[in-house]
Amino acid sequence: EKAGFEHFMMKEIHEQPKAVRDTLNSVLKDGAIDLSEVGLTDEDIQKISQIYIVACGSAYHVGMAAQYVIEDLARIPVRVELASEFRYRNPILDPNGLVIIVSQSGETADSLAALRESKKHGLRTLGIVNVVGSSIAREADNVFYTLAGPEISVATTKAYSTQLIAAYALAIQFGKVRGELDEEKYQELITELQTIPDKISKILEDDRERIQWFAAKQANAKDAFFIGRGIDYAISMEGSLKMKEVSYVHTEAYAAGELKHGTISLIEEGTLVIGILTQNHLYEKTISNMVECKSRGAYLMGLTTFGHYNIEDTADFTVYIPKTDEHFATSLAVIPLQLLGYYVSVAKGLDVDKPRNLAKSVTVE
Ligand code: M6R
Repeated sequence: EKAGFEHFMMKEIHEQPKAVRDTLNSVLKDGAIDLSEVGLTDEDIQKISQIYIVACGSAYHVGMAAQYVIEDLARIPVRVELASEFRYRNPILDPNGLVIIVSQSGETADSLAALRESKKHGLRTLGIVNVVGSSIAREADNVFYTLAGPEISVATTKAYSTQLIAAYALAIQFGKVRGELDEEKYQELITELQTIPDKISKILEDDRERIQWFAAKQANAKDAFFIGRGIDYAISMEGSLKMKEVSYVHTEAYAAGELKHGTISLIEEGTLVIGILTQNHLYEKTISNMVECKSRGAYLMGLTTFGHYNIEDTADFTVYIPKTDEHFATSLAVIPLQLLGYYVSVAKGLDVDKPRNLAKSVTVE
């Protein structure tokens, strides 16, 4: 049942190219994105004045990445919130807002409560859900099904990756319908999206062993800090959660520019800092934050795209990912970070598929 892999998490990491391709294909028709199955018409899309993305855990991190992509491509304001916060804060909601609830299981108690709260306010709700017929899928006005297939490992990998694809598809289509993307740019983005599955496969082939080696060296790390800016900050959040939940290493994600507002006092000789740099216009900025960490003794891992070889002047260990449109970088950069969390856990002899104290689906608040 693990298809030759030692753990479900590793099996599911390797299922990502297919899961991503299937999810993308489900909304592609004649080379264009078609949201008719989801139930969103062009008129619906024109009307949206504000988007609220509400979710928990990794699904919230999808929202963090989606926020940058939707705002940039479709120019619709996006607010991302933790479901457990949203549901209790008496939110002021724009009646023409669209609430997007992201959930693999479709049963997460806080996400379901947030969905109900949104409906009570009369807002339109869209679920990005993996489990067919789940509560969120049944109660949302519209559903975008991710086609990840069953996910067994408590740490999400392939469901997260398919949720990102759903978010990109919405962003691109919203941008097109609202006149923010011309036909050429629209086609270019879709074509690029179709290359993501092969690029994920390539990362898995090329980097697995190196990351395994690096993870074994880091198995005794007490702390790890993941830093990045913009979309790279969203990736940092997921990388950090992946590692902490399966390896029990204390990790934190930080917006790189925030380090000097407090957290940098934690950096000492040998502290692991992972810098994520997939966004060109932010590259030099994050490099300078990495240099600041290094001068305080940090041991640095860099994660960037091929071509940025001068990162090796600063980083002690570097992983390069293939180039893609920067909006989609999360889909590639997360792969080495999933592997890192997995291999640190395995090196420590932990139960990687069932980390202590965690449940696959959090149906109580
Ligand atoms: O089923 P959901 O997507 O609603 O679950 C949300 C979180 O509980 C989930 O992403 C959790 O954070 C995972 N352990 C992350 O790997």
